[in-house]
Amino acid sequence: MVDRELVSAVAHSHHPIAAPLSDASVARLLSRAIGANRRHLLDLGCATGEWLMRAAASHPHVTGVGIDLDEAAIARGTDAIRTAGLADRLELRVGDAREAVLDRPADCVLSVGAAHAFGGLLPTLDAVRGHLADRATVVVGDGFWESEPTDATLAVGFERDEYADLATTVDRVVDAGWAPVYGHVSTAAEWDDYEWSWTGSLTDWALDNDASAIAVAARHRSEWLRGYRGVLGFVTLVLRRAE
Ligand SMILES: C[S@@+](CC[C@H](N)C(=O)[O-])C[C@H]1O[C@@H](n2cnc3c(N)ncnc32)[C@H](O)[C@@H]1O
Repeated sequence: MVDRELVSAVAHSHHPIAAPLSDASVARLLSRAIGANRRHLLDLGCATGEWLMRAAASHPHVTGVGIDLDEAAIARGTDAIRTAGLADRLELRVGDAREAVLDRPADCVLSVGAAHAFGGLLPTLDAVRGHLADRATVVVGDGFWESEPTDATLAVGFERDEYADLATTVDRVVDAGWAPVYGHVSTAAEWDDYEWSWTGSLTDWALDNDASAIAVAARHRSEWLRGYRGVLGFVTLVLRRAE
C-alpha cells in the first residue's frame, strides 16, 4: 500500500496549496496580510512552503521561515525554493509547530489547514500569539459547518462539535481578542477544484504507477461527494490582535 506522505505529494501535484483556495484567493489574502510594511513571515504547518514561496515571489522584501513535521514535504519545498532562487530569503525546517522556538518575532504568521495540529482554531491562535511582532497579522484557515453535518458527514469521521457555523466561528475568534481585518470563504468552485485535483491527480498517477492508490482516491472521492460536499466550509481569516 502506498504511504501517506507519497499520497499527499501526488494528490497535491496539481494544487500545491493544501486547502480549497484558488491562486487568486491566495494572492489576495497574502497581499492584505503583508501590506506595505510587513517583512518577516512564519508559516506553522507549511508543508512544501507554497504560501511562503508565493509571498516571497510577489513581495521582494519578504523573508520567511516555515515549520512542518513532514520531512518529505520540507525536502521537496527546500528544493523548490532553491530552484526558484529564493533560498536567501526563505527557510523550511522539520519540526513540531507547537514547540517552535524562533529567534525573532514575525510580522505575519500563517497557519492554513493545520489547526488540527494545535487542537482547533482557538488553540492555534493561542499558540500563534507568542510569535507576533508589533502590528503583526495572522492568516489562519480552518473548516466551519456550511450546513448541519449529516449522518453521512459524521460517518466519514467528522465530529459534530469539531466546527461551528461561520458566524459562530468568527464570533469565537473575536471574543478571543482578535480583529478580523480581511477574510475569504472558499467558494463551491474552489472546493470542487481542490477535491477533483486531489482525487484526480492521485487516480491519474495510480493508473501508471501503483494500482493500490486507485482505492485510496476512490475512497476520498466518495467521502467528499457523499459525506461533506456542501456541508464542510473553509474560511481563511486575516487577523490582528484587537488590543
Ligand atoms: C492541510 S496541510 C496544509 C499545508 C499548508 N499550510 C497549505 O495550506 O498548503 C496541514 C499540514 O500541517 C502539518 N502538521 C500537522 N501537525 C503538525 C505539527 N504538530 N507541527 C507542524 N506541522 C504539522 C502537516 O504535516 C501538513 O503538512
